[in-house]
Amino acid sequence: MSKTSKTATLSFDDKTLELPMMSPSAGPDVIDIQKLYAQGGVFTFDPGYTSTASCESTITFIDGDKGELLYRGYPIEQLAEKSHFLEVCYLLLYGELPTAAQAEDFESRVTNHTMLHEQMQNFFRGFRRDAHPMAVMVGVVGAMSAFYHDSTDINDPWQREVAAIRMIAKMPTIAAWAFKYSLGQPFIYPRNDLDYASNFLRMCFAVPAEDYEVDPILARAMDRIFTLHADHEQNASTSTVRMASSSGANPFACIAAGIACLWGPAHGGANQACLEMLREIGTVDQIPEYIERAKDKDDPFRLMGFGHRVYKNFDPRAKVMKESADEVLDLMGIENNETLKVAKELERIALEDEYFIEKKLYPNVDFYSGIILDAMGFPTSMFTPLFAVSRTVGWITQWKEMISDPMLRIGRPRQLYTGPTRRDYIEVENRG
Ligand code: SDX
Repeated sequence: MSKTSKTATLSFDDKTLELPMMSPSAGPDVIDIQKLYAQGGVFTFDPGYTSTASCESTITFIDGDKGELLYRGYPIEQLAEKSHFLEVCYLLLYGELPTAAQAEDFESRVTNHTMLHEQMQNFFRGFRRDAHPMAVMVGVVGAMSAFYHDSTDINDPWQREVAAIRMIAKMPTIAAWAFKYSLGQPFIYPRNDLDYASNFLRMCFAVPAEDYEVDPILARAMDRIFTLHADHEQNASTSTVRMASSSGANPFACIAAGIACLWGPAHGGANQACLEMLREIGTVDQIPEYIERAKDKDDPFRLMGFGHRVYKNFDPRAKVMKESADEVLDLMGIENNETLKVAKELERIALEDEYFIEKKLYPNVDFYSGIILDAMGFPTSMFTPLFAVSRTVGWITQWKEMISDPMLRIGRPRQLYTGPTRRDYIEVENRG
C-alpha cells in the first residue's frame, strides 16, 4: 500500500485530528481511520459501506464512472474475447497470465479434482426434489469441510492451495448434480477429456441412456459467462466470504456463506428475478406500465438487472453479455425471441427516461445473462448456481489474499446505538 504524505484534517468538538491518507494504483485515495476511535472517541457511520474501503486488494479494479472492470489489470472485454475461464482463474489466483506450461499444469490439477467424494451424494438425497439448487449448494459446499480435512488448515499454504483447486474443480459438479437431482435424473460424472465448460454442460444435460455431444457454441458461451462473473471486487458475497474468513473459519464454510449471500435477489439472485420479470412483462407494449412501477416510490417493484452500487455507467459485462445473447440465439437458430425483444426495448426506453438517467441506472451483468441461459436449456432456478460456479474463483482468490494479509484482524464493525439507555429490571407485578 502506498502511503502519501497527505493527511486529512478532521475537526469536531474541541478536537482536531490529522488522519493519514493512502494512494492506490487506481481509484480514489483513502483516509485511514483505524485510529479514529482511539484518538477521537467517535465512529464513522456508513451503512451499506458506500464510502468505505474494507481492505487493500490487488485482484480486481472497477471504475464505476467509466464502466471499467479489470482482472489483475486486464480489461474484461479483452479477457472475454481472447481468454478462457481456466486461464482467467489462473490470472486471478496467481496474478499473471500463465505460460503454456503453467496453463497445462493448472488445467490438469483442476481437471483431476472434479469428482466429489462418493458419499457426498447422500447430502443431495436428503433434500426434497423441489429444493432450490442454491439451498443444495449451500448445504453441500458447507459439508465439504466434513470430507476434505486435509485442506481445512488455513495456516498451511499448501492446504490453502489444495482447497482453492478443490473448490474451483468441484463447484461445477455440485451445481450440475443439484440440477440433476431436481430433475430426478441420475448424476453424471465429470470427464477428464473435456474442458471446464463442456464438462459442466455434459454433467447437466447428458443422460446415461444415450451419448451426448457438447455443442461447441454453447460451451464457448458458457465459458464466456463464467469469465464475466468470476470476480467483482468487494461485492456483498465476497465481503461475506472475507468476514467469515476473518474468524479463521475453514474455506468450505466461508464459500458456503458466500453462496448464501449471493442467493439474494438484490445480488446474484437478480439473474433469475430478471428473466422472471421479463417473462411477466411478456410483450413490448406492457413495458411502460412496468417502467412506471419501477419509478413509483410506493411500489416495491424494481427493474431487476438494472442499477448497480458501483457502476454509474454501463456495466461492461452487460455489454459483452448483450452481444453474446445475439450471437448465441442466432447460432442456435432461435429467431424472434420475444424475451430478448422485450429486454432490448426495455433497455432502450429506460435509458431515455429521466428517472433512470438522473439515478444513473443502467443494465447490469444480470440483465441479459438469463436470456442466454434460458436459450441454453437451463431453468431460472439454475441461473444463480451458475453465477456461484463462476464466482467461486473470485471468492477463493479474495480469501487467499485476505488470509495472507499481515493486517488480517477479525472483522468487527461497531454501531450507532439509539436503543434504550440503562434502566433497572421491573418485577412483573409492577409492569403495565
Ligand atoms: C450484482 O456489488 C456487485 O458488484 C454485485 C455484482 C457482482 O458482480 O458481484 O455486480 C452482481 O449483484 C448486480 C446487481 C444485481 N441486482 C439487481 O439487478 C437488482 C435490481 N437493482 C437494485 O436492487 C439496486 O440497483 C442494487 C441493489 C443493485 C444497488 O442498490 P444501491 O446501490 O443500494 O442503490 P439504491 O438502492 O440506493 O438505489 C439508488 C436509487 C434509489 O432511488 P432513491 O431512493 O434515491 O429515490 O435508485 C433507485 C432506488 O430506488 N433504484 C432503482 C433500481 N435500482 C436502484 N429503481 C428502479 N429499479 C432499479 N433496479
